[in-house]
Amino acid sequence: MALGVWSPSLIDVVLFVIAAVVVWKLERRRRRRRRGWATGRLPPGSEGLPVVGETLQLIAAYKSENPEPFIDERVRRHGRLFTTHVFGERTVFSADPEFNRMVLGAEDRTVEGSYPSSLSTLLGTHSLVVMKGARHKRMHSLTLARLTSPAAIREAKLLLHIDRLVRRTLDSWPSSSLVLLLDEAKKITFELTVKQLVINETLRVVNIIGGVFRRAKTDLHFKGYTIPKGCKVFLSFRAVHLDTEYFDDARTFNPWRWQKNAAAQQVGGATVYTPFGGGSRLCPGYELARVVISVFLHYLVTRFNWEEAEKDRLVFFPTTRTLKSYPINVWRREEEEDA
Ligand SMILES: *[C@@H]1O[C@H](CO)[C@@H](O)[C@H](O)[C@H]1NC(C)=O
Repeated sequence: MALGVWSPSLIDVVLFVIAAVVVWKLERRRRRRRRGWATGRLPPGSEGLPVVGETLQLIAAYKSENPEPFIDERVRRHGRLFTTHVFGERTVFSADPEFNRMVLGAEDRTVEGSYPSSLSTLLGTHSLVVMKGARHKRMHSLTLARLTSPAAIREAKLLLHIDRLVRRTLDSWPSSSLVLLLDEAKKITFELTVKQLVINETLRVVNIIGGVFRRAKTDLHFKGYTIPKGCKVFLSFRAVHLDTEYFDDARTFNPWRWQKNAAAQQVGGATVYTPFGGGSRLCPGYELARVVISVFLHYLVTRFNWEEAEKDRLVFFPTTRTLKSYPINVWRREEEEDA
């Protein structure tokens, strides 16, 4: 076929149009990417060694009684939002209450919960922690409605059950014995102390949940940074709770600070104190936990004397706990009324 007599058939035209569209799309994507790299920068940081990243430094810090330097150092060098590489993935760490609020409020829209599959094996697929989307929403609001107000707790006769459970547990202690306080407390609740001031202060400095992982479902933009779609983020509640800018003398356990309503403190519209998380994954048991702790402590301090039996210490990896379950010696107080 001579060039001169070539006349395009319908097939040629269709093929040409398809090729043109493909080339145009590829080019546009390439240009967009390039623009993305130029304007949207990741928060600064270091991704450490290949593969392991900074995982070993993180684990070493959290296995000690004082894990703060891991985050402190990076916040000092890079700011409250920094990039690292832990557990096989690039992860953006946040010690910024405003970023935390933005991400907690974006659940299911631009981020989703991100937990290792081993957790769902451990907790079961019916756990609220591993549920997602519409199913999570339904179960969460049901639980929240039943558990949030103290009135609801009373109405559901929960207080009665809690009271019975606590007494039964304490009555099972021999009149003088060694008790693993953490184990006993765990049977009925998650942590311990006296009254709301102390409960709040404890949740501030040694909350079991130090922060939460999320994964970006779209690019996230915050204060000039872009966190790309698919990236993991860790919202550290602990780092915010221990930030001296938000709490005076933040590294000291001082229940009296709560007399000045430290919980109301905000920055840029974001609550600084978030021991139970926030957004649509706010811990629905937050009120119940307070009630259980209060009842337990009431009976513990009014019916028993106790003292530390052995020195113990806190560790933060893989979870926040005391190494030896905190052994104490207890003596039942004879014939004393519950005050
Ligand atoms: C304890 O913290 C909660 C927020 O989690 C707050 O609503 C409450 O007022 C605080 N209690 C005291 C005594 O500060």
